[in-house]
Amino acid sequence: MKPIEIAKYLAPVLLAVIVMVTCKRDYSKPGREYAPDMAHSKAYETYTKVKDNTAFEDGYTALEPAKGSIARGQKVYHGDDTPEGYTLATASDENPLALTDEALARGKEVYSIYCTPCHGPKGDGEGTAVLGSNYNLAAPPINFTAPTGEWTSGRIFHVINYGKGNMGAYASQIAYDDRWRLVHYVKSLNNANTATTADGSQTASK
Ligand code: HEC
Repeated sequence: MKPIEIAKYLAPVLLAVIVMVTCKRDYSKPGREYAPDMAHSKAYETYTKVKDNTAFEDGYTALEPAKGSIARGQKVYHGDDTPEGYTLATASDENPLALTDEALARGKEVYSIYCTPCHGPKGDGEGTAVLGSNYNLAAPPINFTAPTGEWTSGRIFHVINYGKGNMGAYASQIAYDDRWRLVHYVKSLNNANTATTADGSQTASK
C-alpha cells in the first residue's frame, strides 16, 4: 500500500475520531469557539462615547447628522415656534400650492383624518371629542366657519406645524405639501372665504 492510499482510508477514521472527541456532552463547559469576536461583537450604544473607540473623534460611536440637515425630498417650514413667528406667519396669506379641486380633495381627506375629532367635520368646532362631554379644555377648538376674516394661510399653516394651546403639532404626521393642501381646505370652510379654484369651482361649499 502506498502512503497516499493509507491516508485515503485513514482520513475518514481520523475525522470520526475528531467529531467524537470534540462533541463532549459536558454542558457546564462552553467549549472552544472559532473566531469568538464574530459571534460576540462589542455592542456600543449609538451616539455615545466609548473609551478607546477610534471610529470617530472623541470616541463617539456614531455622528449626529449635520445641524439643519433634512431627509432627501423633504421640505421644512422655517417659521419660528414663538409668538413673533406666529405673528409673522399670520401676516402672510400666500399658499405655494395652487388652489385646485385636487388640492382641496386631498386637503379634505387629511382634515377628516387628523382634524375632525376636535374641529368637527364641518369645521365648526363640534367634533366628537368635544361633544363627547369629557372634553374640558381651557380653550375649545376654533370654529373655522365663523367669518373672523383673520384666517390667513400663513397662520393656519403655522398652527398645523407647531400646534397651539391644547392642539398638538402635526408637522411630523402630515407631509409638507399636504399641510398646504390642508390650509386650502381649512380656508374653504370659512364662510367669509368664497374663493374660486383654478378649475372654476367654488370652495366655500358645505
Ligand atoms: C385635540 C383636538 C384638536 C385637534 C385634533 C386639532 N385641533 Fe386645531 N385647535 C384645537 C384647539 C383647542 C384650538 C384652540 C387653540 C388655542 O387658541 O388655544 C385649535 C386651534 C386651531 C387653529 C387656530 C389657531 C389660531 O391661530 O388661533 C387652527 C388653524 C387649527 N386649530 C387647525 C387644525 C387643523 C388643520 C387640524 C388637523 C391637522 C387640527 N387643528 C387638529 C384643537 C385641536
